Amino acid sequence: AGNGLLQGQRVLVTAGGTVERIDPVRYITNDSSGKMGYAIAEEAVRMGASVTLVTGPTALPAPEGVEIIPVQSALDMREAVMSRMNTSQLIIKAAAVADYRPAVVAEQKMKKKADSLTLELVKNPDILQEIGTLKKDQFVIGFAAETERLDEHALEKLKRKNCDLIVGNDVSQEGAGFSGDTNAVRIFDRNGLVEALPLQSKKDVARRLLELAAGRMKTT
Ligand code: C5P
Repeated sequence: AGNGLLQGQRVLVTAGGTVERIDPVRYITNDSSGKMGYAIAEEAVRMGASVTLVTGPTALPAPEGVEIIPVQSALDMREAVMSRMNTSQLIIKAAAVADYRPAVVAEQKMKKKADSLTLELVKNPDILQEIGTLKKDQFVIGFAAETERLDEHALEKLKRKNCDLIVGNDVSQEGAGFSGDTNAVRIFDRNGLVEALPLQSKKDVARRLLELAAGRMKTT
């Protein structure tokens, strides 16, 4: 049974990678499986929260008791998240949002022509940063997947995006990061390292992260 730590709280979670269309049959995406975000959504329900999961396409079954909002692109995800941010108390951005999208989406399947093809990409909005700028009482958690200088990069992101906690993920470590069922993370707040979680199931990482958040959230 759950522990009720998030009883009555509305939690908004993002998960999975975004899909950025090139033409009707082609797209750009990344290796995110959605497992970390789904585990967070599931654990938040167990802890008594009312949970909305904004998710890019994944192979995962919908967690029970969670409101699912399926999206494709970063722009779709932004719309889904921004329209719900004011009614959420806890926002957790575990999605791997594409940094760039094709400048134009071809209406018809692109034809093979020249020997080389250049695809122009434009920057996507940074959803977490927008939330960080607009937030009032919401408690906001970001993720940082890094392959080097994890602590430094994670802390820099936390400050730049104005989140309350950031979960640093060394994706070069065996068993951690994208696609697997386990993760090893270092959780930071403004003042530095809060907790290092050694390799364990994403479910256990999710539970500990939510416990930390619950303990730090303003309860009214
Ligand atoms: O800067 P970086 O993309 O590594 O930041 C990762 C964090 O920012 C994650 O929490 C991710 O969900 C969020 N993010 C976002 N919008 C983007 C890019 C990242 O919300 N366009």
